[in-house]
Amino acid sequence: MEERLVTGEAISEDGGEFSLRPTSLAQYIGQEKVKENLRIFIEAAKLRKETLDHVLLYGPPGLGKTTLASIIANEMGVNIRTTSGPTIERQGDLAAILTSLEPGDVLFIDEIHRLHRSVEEVLYPAMEDFCLDIVIGQGETVRSLRIDLPPFTLIGATTRAGFLSAPLRDRFGVLNRLEYYTEKELMLIVKRTAELFSVEIEDEAAKELAKRARGTPRIANRLLRRVRDFAQVEGDGKITLAITKSSLDKLQVDGIGLDQIDNKIITWMITRFNGGPVGLDTIASSIGEEPQTIEEVYEPYLLQIGFIQRTPRGRIVTPLAYRHFNLEVPE
Ligand code: ADE
Repeated sequence: MEERLVTGEAISEDGGEFSLRPTSLAQYIGQEKVKENLRIFIEAAKLRKETLDHVLLYGPPGLGKTTLASIIANEMGVNIRTTSGPTIERQGDLAAILTSLEPGDVLFIDEIHRLHRSVEEVLYPAMEDFCLDIVIGQGETVRSLRIDLPPFTLIGATTRAGFLSAPLRDRFGVLNRLEYYTEKELMLIVKRTAELFSVEIEDEAAKELAKRARGTPRIANRLLRRVRDFAQVEGDGKITLAITKSSLDKLQVDGIGLDQIDNKIITWMITRFNGGPVGLDTIASSIGEEPQTIEEVYEPYLLQIGFIQRTPRGRIVTPLAYRHFNLEVPE
Protein backbone atom coordinates (compact mmCIF):
# COMPACT_ATOMS: atom_id res chain seq x y z
CA MET A 1 0.00 0.00 0.00
CA GLU A 2 2.78 2.33 0.91
CA GLU A 3 4.31 2.05 -2.57
CA ARG A 4 1.18 3.70 -3.93
CA LEU A 5 1.53 6.65 -1.62
CA VAL A 6 5.15 7.58 -1.65
CA THR A 7 8.07 7.46 -4.00
CA GLY A 8 11.73 7.19 -3.19
CA GLU A 9 12.59 10.25 -5.24
CA ALA A 10 11.05 13.61 -5.85
CA ILE A 11 8.39 13.43 -8.54
CA SER A 12 9.55 14.60 -11.95
CA GLU A 13 6.92 16.81 -13.50
CA ASP A 14 8.99 17.49 -16.57
CA GLY A 15 8.79 14.22 -18.42
CA GLY A 16 11.45 12.22 -16.69
CA GLU A 17 14.46 14.43 -17.40
CA PHE A 18 15.13 14.65 -13.73
CA SER A 19 18.79 15.49 -14.17
CA LEU A 20 17.72 18.90 -15.50
CA ARG A 21 16.88 19.96 -12.00
CA PRO A 22 19.68 21.47 -9.94
CA THR A 23 20.78 19.20 -7.11
CA SER A 24 22.55 21.69 -4.82
CA LEU A 25 21.89 25.21 -3.55
CA ALA A 26 24.97 26.36 -5.46
CA GLN A 27 23.43 25.22 -8.77
CA TYR A 28 20.03 26.69 -8.00
CA ILE A 29 19.46 30.02 -9.74
CA GLY A 30 17.32 32.75 -8.12
CA GLN A 31 15.31 32.89 -4.86
CA GLU A 32 18.40 34.42 -3.25
CA LYS A 33 16.81 35.21 0.12
CA VAL A 34 15.33 31.74 0.48
CA LYS A 35 18.66 30.13 -0.42
CA GLU A 36 20.63 32.35 1.94
CA ASN A 37 18.43 31.44 4.88
CA LEU A 38 18.22 27.77 4.04
CA ARG A 39 22.00 27.56 3.77
CA ILE A 40 22.32 28.81 7.35
CA PHE A 41 19.59 26.58 8.78
CA ILE A 42 21.00 23.51 7.02
CA GLU A 43 24.53 24.21 8.23
CA ALA A 44 23.38 24.86 11.79
CA ALA A 45 21.34 21.65 11.89
CA LYS A 46 24.30 19.68 10.54
CA LEU A 47 26.68 21.24 13.12
CA ARG A 48 24.30 20.25 15.91
CA LYS A 49 23.75 16.84 14.31
CA GLU A 50 20.03 17.45 14.43
CA THR A 51 17.32 17.19 11.82
CA LEU A 52 16.40 20.39 10.04
CA ASP A 53 13.26 22.03 11.41
CA HIS A 54 10.10 21.54 9.33
CA VAL A 55 9.97 23.73 6.22
CA LEU A 56 6.97 25.21 4.44
CA LEU A 57 7.48 26.34 0.84
CA TYR A 58 4.69 28.34 -0.71
CA GLY A 59 4.05 30.32 -3.87
CA PRO A 60 2.66 29.99 -7.39
CA PRO A 61 3.19 26.73 -9.32
CA GLY A 62 6.38 26.09 -11.28
CA LEU A 63 8.74 28.17 -9.16
CA GLY A 64 10.80 25.27 -7.82
CA LYS A 65 9.22 24.02 -4.60
CA THR A 66 9.77 20.34 -5.41
CA THR A 67 13.30 21.06 -6.63
CA LEU A 68 14.14 22.92 -3.44
CA ALA A 69 12.79 20.07 -1.32
CA SER A 70 15.10 17.57 -2.99
CA ILE A 71 18.01 20.01 -2.73
CA ILE A 72 17.40 20.37 1.00
CA ALA A 73 17.47 16.58 1.40
CA ASN A 74 20.65 16.41 -0.68
CA GLU A 75 22.38 19.13 1.30
CA MET A 76 21.39 17.43 4.56
CA GLY A 77 22.64 14.11 3.16
CA VAL A 78 19.36 12.29 3.79
CA ASN A 79 16.70 10.48 1.77
CA ILE A 80 13.57 12.19 0.53
CA ARG A 81 10.17 10.51 0.45
CA THR A 82 7.60 12.25 -1.67
CA THR A 83 3.82 12.23 -1.43
CA SER A 84 0.99 14.69 -1.82
CA GLY A 85 -1.96 15.93 0.23
CA PRO A 86 -4.80 14.46 -1.85
CA THR A 87 -3.21 10.98 -2.11
CA ILE A 88 -3.19 10.48 1.65
CA GLU A 89 -6.80 9.56 2.23
CA ARG A 90 -6.76 7.98 5.67
CA GLN A 91 -4.94 8.45 8.94
CA GLY A 92 -3.50 4.95 8.50
CA ASP A 93 -1.94 5.94 5.16
CA LEU A 94 0.04 8.70 6.81
CA ALA A 95 0.90 6.48 9.81
CA ALA A 96 2.32 3.89 7.38
CA ILE A 97 4.52 6.50 5.72
CA LEU A 98 5.72 8.02 8.99
CA THR A 99 6.62 4.70 10.59
CA SER A 100 8.67 3.68 7.56
CA LEU A 101 10.95 6.75 7.62
CA GLU A 102 14.63 6.40 8.43
CA PRO A 103 16.07 8.75 11.05
CA GLY A 104 16.73 12.17 9.52
CA ASP A 105 14.68 11.56 6.35
CA VAL A 106 12.85 14.35 4.60
CA LEU A 107 9.15 13.73 4.03
CA PHE A 108 7.92 15.97 1.23
CA ILE A 109 4.17 16.57 1.08
CA ASP A 110 3.18 18.47 -2.03
CA GLU A 111 -0.18 20.28 -2.07
CA ILE A 112 -0.23 20.05 1.68
CA HIS A 113 -3.24 22.38 1.83
CA ARG A 114 -5.29 19.50 0.41
CA LEU A 115 -4.66 17.13 3.32
CA HIS A 116 -7.84 15.87 4.96
CA ARG A 117 -8.38 17.45 8.35
CA SER A 118 -8.42 14.06 10.07
CA VAL A 119 -5.08 13.17 8.47
CA GLU A 120 -3.68 16.56 9.41
CA GLU A 121 -4.33 15.80 13.06
CA VAL A 122 -1.95 12.83 12.87
CA LEU A 123 0.74 15.23 11.71
CA TYR A 124 0.59 17.51 14.76
CA PRO A 125 2.20 15.16 17.32
CA ALA A 126 4.40 13.71 14.58
CA MET A 127 5.83 17.15 13.79
CA GLU A 128 6.02 18.35 17.35
CA ASP A 129 7.17 15.33 19.34
CA PHE A 130 8.03 12.73 16.66
CA CYS A 131 5.30 10.39 17.82
CA LEU A 132 1.97 8.97 16.75
CA ASP A 133 -1.06 8.85 18.98
CA ILE A 134 -3.19 5.92 17.94
CA VAL A 135 -6.62 5.22 19.35
CA ILE A 136 -7.55 1.55 19.58
CA GLY A 137 -10.67 -0.24 20.78
CA GLN A 138 -14.15 1.14 21.22
CA GLY A 139 -16.44 2.30 24.00
CA GLU A 140 -15.21 1.20 27.41
CA THR A 141 -12.08 -0.49 26.06
CA VAL A 142 -10.86 2.50 24.10
CA ARG A 143 -7.18 3.18 24.70
CA SER A 144 -4.64 5.54 23.30
CA LEU A 145 -1.28 4.19 22.20
CA ARG A 146 1.80 6.30 21.64
CA ILE A 147 4.34 5.18 19.03
CA ASP A 148 7.72 6.87 18.73
CA LEU A 149 8.82 7.94 15.28
CA PRO A 150 12.33 8.55 13.98
CA PRO A 151 13.17 12.27 13.91
CA PHE A 152 12.41 13.64 10.45
CA THR A 153 11.98 16.88 8.54
CA LEU A 154 8.61 17.60 7.00
CA ILE A 155 8.74 19.80 3.92
CA GLY A 156 5.30 20.99 2.90
CA ALA A 157 4.61 22.73 -0.40
CA THR A 158 1.53 24.70 -1.25
CA THR A 159 0.29 27.24 -3.73
CA ARG A 160 -2.10 28.49 -1.08
CA ALA A 161 -0.52 29.26 2.30
CA GLY A 162 -3.77 30.94 3.29
CA PHE A 163 -5.60 27.61 2.96
CA LEU A 164 -3.45 25.96 5.60
CA SER A 165 -5.02 25.63 9.02
CA ALA A 166 -3.36 27.75 11.69
CA PRO A 167 -2.29 24.74 13.84
CA LEU A 168 -0.52 23.17 10.87
CA ARG A 169 1.11 26.40 9.70
CA ASP A 170 2.33 27.13 13.24
CA ARG A 171 4.22 23.84 13.39
CA PHE A 172 6.60 24.78 10.60
CA GLY A 173 9.80 26.38 11.88
CA VAL A 174 10.93 27.68 8.50
CA LEU A 175 8.47 29.47 6.20
CA ASN A 176 9.61 30.39 2.71
CA ARG A 177 7.66 32.24 0.09
CA LEU A 178 8.94 31.70 -3.45
CA GLU A 179 8.78 34.73 -5.72
CA TYR A 180 8.48 35.04 -9.49
CA TYR A 181 11.92 35.02 -11.14
CA THR A 182 13.49 38.05 -12.81
CA GLU A 183 14.17 38.07 -16.52
CA LYS A 184 17.90 37.85 -15.82
CA GLU A 185 17.48 34.76 -13.61
CA LEU A 186 15.23 33.07 -16.18
CA MET A 187 17.78 33.79 -18.88
CA LEU A 188 20.45 32.01 -16.82
CA ILE A 189 18.09 29.08 -16.26
CA VAL A 190 17.33 28.81 -19.98
CA LYS A 191 21.05 28.89 -20.82
CA ARG A 192 21.79 26.26 -18.20
CA THR A 193 19.06 23.97 -19.54
CA ALA A 194 20.21 24.50 -23.15
CA GLU A 195 23.69 23.46 -22.09
CA LEU A 196 22.32 20.30 -20.48
CA PHE A 197 20.48 19.61 -23.76
CA SER A 198 23.77 20.26 -25.62
CA VAL A 199 21.99 22.76 -27.83
CA GLU A 200 23.44 26.08 -28.91
CA ILE A 201 21.38 29.17 -28.06
CA GLU A 202 21.89 32.85 -28.84
CA ASP A 203 21.91 35.19 -25.83
CA GLU A 204 19.12 37.21 -27.43
CA ALA A 205 17.06 34.04 -27.87
CA ALA A 206 17.52 33.11 -24.21
CA LYS A 207 16.44 36.63 -23.30
CA GLU A 208 13.33 36.38 -25.46
CA LEU A 209 12.36 33.09 -23.83
CA ALA A 210 12.94 34.63 -20.39
CA LYS A 211 10.66 37.55 -21.31
CA ARG A 212 7.85 35.23 -22.28
CA ALA A 213 8.10 32.74 -19.40
CA ARG A 214 5.82 34.53 -16.91
CA GLY A 215 8.52 34.61 -14.24
CA THR A 216 8.36 30.80 -14.06
CA PRO A 217 11.26 28.36 -14.69
CA ARG A 218 8.89 25.48 -15.51
CA ILE A 219 7.36 27.57 -18.31
CA ALA A 220 10.80 28.76 -19.50
CA ASN A 221 12.02 25.18 -19.79
CA ARG A 222 8.83 24.01 -21.48
CA LEU A 223 9.04 26.78 -24.08
CA LEU A 224 12.72 26.02 -24.58
CA ARG A 225 11.85 22.41 -25.43
CA ARG A 226 9.34 23.50 -28.05
CA VAL A 227 11.65 26.09 -29.55
CA ARG A 228 14.36 23.42 -29.69
CA ASP A 229 11.93 21.29 -31.77
CA PHE A 230 11.38 24.12 -34.25
CA ALA A 231 15.12 24.83 -34.43
CA GLN A 232 15.84 21.19 -35.16
CA VAL A 233 13.18 20.69 -37.82
CA GLU A 234 13.04 24.11 -39.46
CA GLY A 235 16.60 25.31 -38.85
CA ASP A 236 20.01 23.80 -38.28
CA GLY A 237 19.47 23.03 -34.61
CA LYS A 238 20.82 26.30 -33.23
CA ILE A 239 18.29 28.33 -31.27
CA THR A 240 18.37 31.78 -32.82
CA LEU A 241 16.34 34.85 -31.91
CA ALA A 242 14.40 34.62 -35.19
CA ILE A 243 13.42 30.97 -34.61
CA THR A 244 12.54 31.71 -30.99
CA LYS A 245 10.24 34.57 -31.95
CA SER A 246 8.54 32.73 -34.78
CA SER A 247 8.00 29.54 -32.78
CA LEU A 248 6.67 31.35 -29.72
CA ASP A 249 4.26 33.21 -31.98
CA LYS A 250 3.13 29.88 -33.43
CA LEU A 251 2.63 28.61 -29.88
CA GLN A 252 0.43 31.68 -29.31
CA VAL A 253 2.56 32.95 -26.47
CA ASP A 254 2.56 36.73 -26.75
CA GLY A 255 5.41 39.19 -26.21
CA ILE A 256 5.02 39.23 -22.42
CA GLY A 257 4.25 35.53 -22.10
CA LEU A 258 0.48 35.62 -21.98
CA ASP A 259 -1.11 32.56 -23.57
CA GLN A 260 -4.52 31.89 -25.06
CA ILE A 261 -6.17 31.39 -21.69
CA ASP A 262 -4.83 34.62 -20.18
CA ASN A 263 -5.98 36.30 -23.34
CA LYS A 264 -9.44 34.77 -23.05
CA ILE A 265 -9.76 35.77 -19.39
CA ILE A 266 -8.88 39.41 -19.99
CA THR A 267 -10.70 39.98 -23.28
CA TRP A 268 -13.80 38.23 -21.98
CA MET A 269 -13.83 40.39 -18.84
CA ILE A 270 -13.50 43.47 -21.03
CA THR A 271 -16.00 42.62 -23.75
CA ARG A 272 -18.69 40.99 -21.62
CA PHE A 273 -18.32 42.79 -18.32
CA ASN A 274 -16.86 46.11 -19.30
CA GLY A 275 -13.72 45.26 -17.34
CA GLY A 276 -15.46 44.04 -14.18
CA PRO A 277 -15.91 43.58 -11.36
CA VAL A 278 -16.52 39.91 -12.16
CA GLY A 279 -16.66 36.97 -9.73
CA LEU A 280 -14.13 34.15 -10.02
CA ASP A 281 -16.79 31.49 -10.70
CA THR A 282 -18.27 33.53 -13.52
CA ILE A 283 -14.86 33.93 -15.16
CA ALA A 284 -14.11 30.24 -14.76
CA SER A 285 -17.38 28.93 -16.17
CA SER A 286 -17.31 31.27 -19.12
CA ILE A 287 -13.92 30.10 -20.31
CA GLY A 288 -14.38 26.46 -19.29
CA GLU A 289 -11.69 26.20 -16.60
CA GLU A 290 -11.90 25.25 -12.94
CA PRO A 291 -12.09 28.25 -10.58
CA GLN A 292 -9.18 26.73 -8.66
CA THR A 293 -7.02 26.65 -11.80
CA ILE A 294 -7.79 30.28 -12.54
CA GLU A 295 -7.02 31.26 -8.98
CA GLU A 296 -3.83 29.25 -8.58
CA VAL A 297 -2.31 29.25 -12.08
CA TYR A 298 -3.49 32.22 -14.12
CA GLU A 299 -4.55 34.90 -11.69
CA PRO A 300 -1.32 35.20 -9.63
CA TYR A 301 0.70 36.29 -12.64
CA LEU A 302 -1.99 38.63 -13.97
CA LEU A 303 -2.10 40.22 -10.51
CA GLN A 304 1.70 40.37 -10.36
CA ILE A 305 1.99 42.29 -13.63
CA GLY A 306 -0.90 44.54 -12.62
CA PHE A 307 -3.33 43.48 -15.37
CA ILE A 308 -6.10 42.63 -12.93
CA GLN A 309 -6.95 43.66 -9.40
CA ARG A 310 -9.00 41.92 -6.75
CA THR A 311 -11.73 43.98 -5.14
CA PRO A 312 -14.38 42.92 -2.63
CA ARG A 313 -16.90 42.85 -5.49
CA GLY A 314 -14.77 40.75 -7.84
CA ARG A 315 -11.88 41.03 -10.28
CA ILE A 316 -11.36 44.12 -12.41
CA VAL A 317 -9.19 44.69 -15.48
CA THR A 318 -6.70 47.58 -15.16
CA PRO A 319 -5.90 50.24 -17.80
CA LEU A 320 -2.49 48.54 -18.23
CA ALA A 321 -4.22 45.44 -19.62
CA TYR A 322 -6.46 47.47 -21.94
CA ARG A 323 -3.36 49.10 -23.39
CA HIS A 324 -1.58 45.78 -23.85
CA PHE A 325 -4.51 44.48 -25.90
CA ASN A 326 -4.80 47.79 -27.80
CA LEU A 327 -8.23 48.46 -26.42
CA GLU A 328 -9.60 51.81 -25.40
CA VAL A 329 -9.70 52.34 -21.65
CA PRO A 330 -13.32 53.10 -20.60
CA GLU A 331 -14.05 56.43 -18.90
N1 ADE B 1 15.77 24.70 -13.54
C1 ADE B 1 14.54 24.99 -13.12
N2 ADE B 1 14.58 25.88 -12.12
C2 ADE B 1 15.87 26.16 -11.88
C3 ADE B 1 16.56 27.02 -10.97
N3 ADE B 1 15.90 27.78 -10.10
N4 ADE B 1 17.89 27.03 -11.03
C4 ADE B 1 18.55 26.27 -11.92
N5 ADE B 1 17.96 25.48 -12.80
C5 ADE B 1 16.63 25.40 -12.79
